[in-house]
Amino acid sequence: MSINKVMVIGAGQMGAGIAQVFAQAGLHVKLNDMNGEALKKGMSGIEKRLNRAVEKEKMSASEKEEAWNNLESTTDLREASDCDLVIEAVVESMDIKTQVFQTLDEVTPEHAILASNTSSLPITEIAAVTKRPSQVIGMHFMNPVPVMKLVEIIRALQTSEETYEAIEEMSKKLGKTPVEVNDYPGFVSNRILMPMINEAIYTVYEGVSSVEDVDTVMKLGMNHPMGPLQLADFIGLDTCLYIMEVLHDGFGDSKYRPCPLLRQYVKAGWLGKKSGRGFYSYE
Ligand code: CAA
Repeated sequence: MSINKVMVIGAGQMGAGIAQVFAQAGLHVKLNDMNGEALKKGMSGIEKRLNRAVEKEKMSASEKEEAWNNLESTTDLREASDCDLVIEAVVESMDIKTQVFQTLDEVTPEHAILASNTSSLPITEIAAVTKRPSQVIGMHFMNPVPVMKLVEIIRALQTSEETYEAIEEMSKKLGKTPVEVNDYPGFVSNRILMPMINEAIYTVYEGVSSVEDVDTVMKLGMNHPMGPLQLADFIGLDTCLYIMEVLHDGFGDSKYRPCPLLRQYVKAGWLGKKSGRGFYSYE
């Protein structure tokens, strides 16, 4: 099937990044958010990043114009009525995602593929609330989306081969490297990343080492671009806790128990970069 028109739902960091890469790849994209202010912020972030790419001579002014002209913004989900693909990147709540997918099922054309950028919720369960479960799939981008090469493509139990192939081809068109993953808790990325972050938090909690030293070990010793605690702040400590809970519930294995220090930080509202304080201070 050919995919020409795309809607991205949710204008946060992930949604705006996803819309940007589609626009840069020459697709017509509608960025949607029900909150007009969030939508404005998402669009201005994209414009800023495109301008920076021109300044750094990574993109010509005309390429920037072209990408920008491919973008539209809307607060109305019903504008997905002419889209071939919709990617949902709203908050990680099954109730909200269920509502979004049920609405999309009603308003999008019959052939449209409905994808979720969820980092942890079961795609199989999301697919089951629609009347087109074979056209539902996970398309998990990494943050920052314009920089990171990976797209984890998650097959729900119901996903058809045709849907999988269309999304694989689209991911390559975006300049990304797709990896096929089956629908189990944490997929591959977060099943491996989050226990590492959680263990880094345990090493601080148990007094083995300091925040800075844990990060230095992983940066200089393992060549990670960011230490696990800096990365946890960047992802959001609430998100890290949520994903650990998904792993813990999903596998019922104590090796996934969230560190009490992580719970305490989240309770304090120390959520990382976005709240001004996490393992580091950003004020
Ligand atoms: N949006 C867009 N571009 C960004 C960006 C952002 N938020 N942050 C940095 N960049 C770009 C910069 O513009 C720069 O681009 P150019 O090379 O074209 O100039 C490039 O990234 C490098 O940036 P910097 O030189 O400023 O900084 P850096 O070298 O320290 O790289 C980084 C920044 C790419 C974020 C790097 O630190 C990194 O790779 N960190 C790890 C990121 C990671 O692990 N992401 C996965 C998170 S997990 C996830 O997303 C899944 C989940 O479900 C939780």
